[in-house]
Amino acid sequence: MNYIGSKFTLSSWIEGEVKKVVGEDLSRKIFCDIFAGTGTIGRTFKKEVKKVIANDLEHYSYVLNKNYIQNSQEIYDKEEYIRELDSLPLRSDGFIYRYYCLGSGSGRQYFSNTNGKKIDTIRLKIKEWREKEKIDSALYYYLLASLLESADKVANIASVYGAFLKNMKKSALKDMVLESADFMKNHNRHQVFNKDSNELIKEIKGDILYLDPPYNHRQYGANYHILNTISLYEEFFPKGKTGLPNYNHSPYSKKAKVPSVFEELIKNANFKYIFLSYNNEGWMSKNDIKNIMSKYGKYTLVQKEHKRFKANKADMGNHKLNKTFEYLHILEK
Ligand SMILES: C[S@@+](CC[C@H](N)C(=O)[O-])C[C@H]1O[C@@H](n2cnc3c(N)ncnc32)[C@H](O)[C@@H]1O
Repeated sequence: MNYIGSKFTLSSWIEGEVKKVVGEDLSRKIFCDIFAGTGTIGRTFKKEVKKVIANDLEHYSYVLNKNYIQNSQEIYDKEEYIRELDSLPLRSDGFIYRYYCLGSGSGRQYFSNTNGKKIDTIRLKIKEWREKEKIDSALYYYLLASLLESADKVANIASVYGAFLKNMKKSALKDMVLESADFMKNHNRHQVFNKDSNELIKEIKGDILYLDPPYNHRQYGANYHILNTISLYEEFFPKGKTGLPNYNHSPYSKKAKVPSVFEELIKNANFKYIFLSYNNEGWMSKNDIKNIMSKYGKYTLVQKEHKRFKANKADMGNHKLNKTFEYLHILEK
């Protein structure tokens, strides 16, 4: 998934830096990815550690992590459920078609009519199966994650869901195919939450805490609202041109609030090692972070140049450069 701030391309660098500090053998460690997003960092460490705790404020992220992180045991015949869902006759009475496709008269075109109907058809069947207890929680999250990933591939957007495109783009015209969101199997038990980081931090403890908070004004709940709508699938009245629901406002996306919420998080963290990803264009400067983290233990910094996330041309503003620095701030508490 093309995700703002995704650490997909940085995951092996982060893994290497964590091992340099904590040691090569992480098999007895508890690792927490508290701003998990797509779950890519938790997935990297899932094969290494005793337990991953993943968390995110957004529901679609919770679903992805329930599948990719918490699901660890084989789910028998899971591809057969995928095949059954993928070949259901389409219905036209679902929420996505009614409010986010042009054919229903909604005035919005986040998906082609066929794809909108197919997303609803699959979503409603998953809901029905769960309610009738035909599927358990593990299979439920696997199927839902498969739907989110597959729907994202055919969305008619530039790269985030803040707005839809006027004309259908090529990939959005393709018929959606429900693809399996396969997860890594292992013998350990992992845990996933859907909470505010600063609340959760008071309830957990472990060894390695990885922090990847938002670093600018973009609220994930607004930029990925359609994914939340598919995963929550609760009725509401979509408002305005883009059909935005009420969404979470993270304090990490508000310049004035960041230093205090960040310090509170560090202070309350019951973890020996803390790693923070933050890039050079974020609300807090390198020095702001150093000053806060140094109060709580031994602080170091490593950095790497990497490619900038391009949301759209307008968003690039005056930045002509396509490269940015990614910092990893390290605290031994
Ligand atoms: C930079 S992204 C993380 C990206 C992730 N590392 C990845 O590779 O996909 C920041 C994430 O923090 C989440 N978030 C924002 N505020 C939060 C809060 N107060 N508590 C928990 N999660 C929050 C957002 O929903 C978003 O998924």
